[in-house]
Amino acid sequence: MIHVDHVSHAYTPSGPPVLDDVALDITRGAVTALVGPNGAGKSTLLAAVSRLLGPDHGRVVVDGVDVARAPDREVARVLAVLRQDTRLSARLTVVDLVRFGRFPHSGGRLTTADHEVVAASLAHVGMADLRDRYLDELSGGQRQRAFIAMVLAQETPYVLLDEPLNNLDMEHAASVMRVLRTAADDLGRTVVVVLHDVNMAAAWADDVVGMRDGRVVARGRPAEVLRTDVLREVFGIEIPVVTVDGSPVALHWLPRAGRHPMGVGQRY
Ligand SMILES: Nc1ncnc2c1ncn2[C@@H]1O[C@H](COP(=O)(O)OP(=O)(O)O)[C@@H](O)[C@H]1O
Ligand SMILES: [Mg+2]
Repeated sequence: MIHVDHVSHAYTPSGPPVLDDVALDITRGAVTALVGPNGAGKSTLLAAVSRLLGPDHGRVVVDGVDVARAPDREVARVLAVLRQDTRLSARLTVVDLVRFGRFPHSGGRLTTADHEVVAASLAHVGMADLRDRYLDELSGGQRQRAFIAMVLAQETPYVLLDEPLNNLDMEHAASVMRVLRTAADDLGRTVVVVLHDVNMAAAWADDVVGMRDGRVVARGRPAEVLRTDVLREVFGIEIPVVTVDGSPVALHWLPRAGRHPMGVGQRY
């Protein structure tokens, strides 16, 4: 379990809290989507969980390991993170990228078992045929799947991803979500993914967590969070929700959607 224990953080001593007493438990085996407006604190929360940031108050405990106090290698064995700004040399092949995922295990000298994990990770994301391509010879969706293969190759129980669907078209975005879904269902990984689109979250995640102003303001199954009243709490605007084939769909693109209840006329 990921246990976020009353975590607060401000980037500047006099500034507003970017995380404001966040308490959140994420159980094993599920796909949890983190949603909320820009600046809600989603990336900062992911950074605190993955120890890229030491929060001012509170702590994060993952399977009994206090991530702020544990040695690097111990944290690397439980958590793998794909950050939003993945910039790596384009003159790197897919398979070389995925081999990086084994470094916490092998320290650079890959064993036969490491190579097998690399191959299995490539197969899982459907990139086995493209293993020798350079990253700059791939489409955005293929490149994102290669990065996900690298993260899966770390064989950590927990996988955290920050907006992995950015700049992907509909088909590629769905293929990335399918990879994450099967990582949970078939490989037993616990997936925490920051998503921009609440409908993507509802369609693929087991649990949806809504953040606003550094706080968790909504949490539940997709149908419990994709409601006009709950989305108003998260995004501060009016979003109609309809049901299609039994699933909730937020109509945030409608011209009439996005108007603030006070008539400010903000758009989502
Ligand atoms: N390194 C930083 N220094 C100062 N402020 C930051 C830094 N990173 C993020 N912030 C601020 O913290 C708030 C939350 O940011 P972030 O966690 O990136 O939100 P989200 O991922 O939900 O868009 C924003 O107001 C942002 O401007
Ligand atoms: Mg962010």
